[in-house]
Amino acid sequence: MLDGKKSLFSGMQATGTITLGNYLGALKNWVDIENEYMCFYSVVDLHSITVRQDPKVLRKNARDLLMLYIAAGLDPEKNCIYYQSHVSAHAELAWILNCFTYMGEMNRMTQFKDKSAKHSDNINTGLFTYPVLMAADILLYQADVVPVGIDQKQHLEITRDIAARFNNIYGDVFTIPEMYMGKAGRKIMSLQEPTKKMSKSDTNPNSHILLLDDPAVIMKKFKRAVTDSEGVIAYRDEQPGIKNLIDIYCATTGCTVEAALAEFDGLGYGALKQRVGEAVIAELEPVQQRFRDLSKNKDYINSIIKNNAEKAGYYATKTLRKVQRKVGFPDRIR
Ligand code: TYM
Repeated sequence: MLDGKKSLFSGMQATGTITLGNYLGALKNWVDIENEYMCFYSVVDLHSITVRQDPKVLRKNARDLLMLYIAAGLDPEKNCIYYQSHVSAHAELAWILNCFTYMGEMNRMTQFKDKSAKHSDNINTGLFTYPVLMAADILLYQADVVPVGIDQKQHLEITRDIAARFNNIYGDVFTIPEMYMGKAGRKIMSLQEPTKKMSKSDTNPNSHILLLDDPAVIMKKFKRAVTDSEGVIAYRDEQPGIKNLIDIYCATTGCTVEAALAEFDGLGYGALKQRVGEAVIAELEPVQQRFRDLSKNKDYINSIIKNNAEKAGYYATKTLRKVQRKVGFPDRIR
């Protein structure tokens, strides 16, 4: 709770153009619930440098992502859309929370295991303590809910554990956040290996749809999506490629699995891919158009960046000061 209102925090990494998975698993849901909460949506650039980045590319990706939040429909006047690195309280609270988190807890994090296997030449301590920074992000804004895809579940659980541990020692300091997931799109799979999560770091470009992909490219990628040899459109684990296409369709259009199956009854796989591709293009084209318009409006975006960093900083500092006081840091002299 913040100022008597329920609050919400979520973020995305600025490590490249986001995928359809990020959009359907998170961003689209953010837009759906923006009126119910006081919302903070961060471009989490501190998290991004746990993997080596080209500075110029990171800066561009971060700005593009901020614009994509708005292009997807988040109102920047109502929602606080900002860069994590512009609010130093994130790093400060993360340090404090590091001292309330155990090595054993971090060792269990599956994302750390996956990422350290992928980046074996750069297993840095930032990558290891990444979930603590994430906990700081969420707890700084006393978030009641955190809308994310299912892959973030373990990080949400550790956030709750850290918050409860801190509260047990110092009294009611943090709101214990709940995870929020949309009905569909919690885990969009790769179009090439449908048993694996769709991810922008996948080296096969046909495995993922990027939010700024051209419509023709989107259709081509769907046409190449891996399916199976069953020849029947059914929603079952034994047909992960088809199941994923149905999930994408439902998350995009808002229809139920039953309605989708009725609609696709009797279609071949080619026609199914065409339908899903068309639905995704219809959804993304307006987002892409707004993104292009926003890109031309530099001053407007700059004013959002400035104002929202101040707003986020105000609330974040309030929580940070409370925490600093609780752990025994000396009061500031005014
Ligand atoms: P990131 O940047 O990997 O992903 C951003 C959001 O997209 C969701 N997502 C997916 N959903 C469905 N299907 C997929 N294939 C898929 N891929 C990604 C993620 O669940 C996420 O919601 N650690 C976070 C960023 C973060 C954060 C936070 C999130 C930092 N601090 C605090 C929430 C609260 C991450 O790397 O997400």
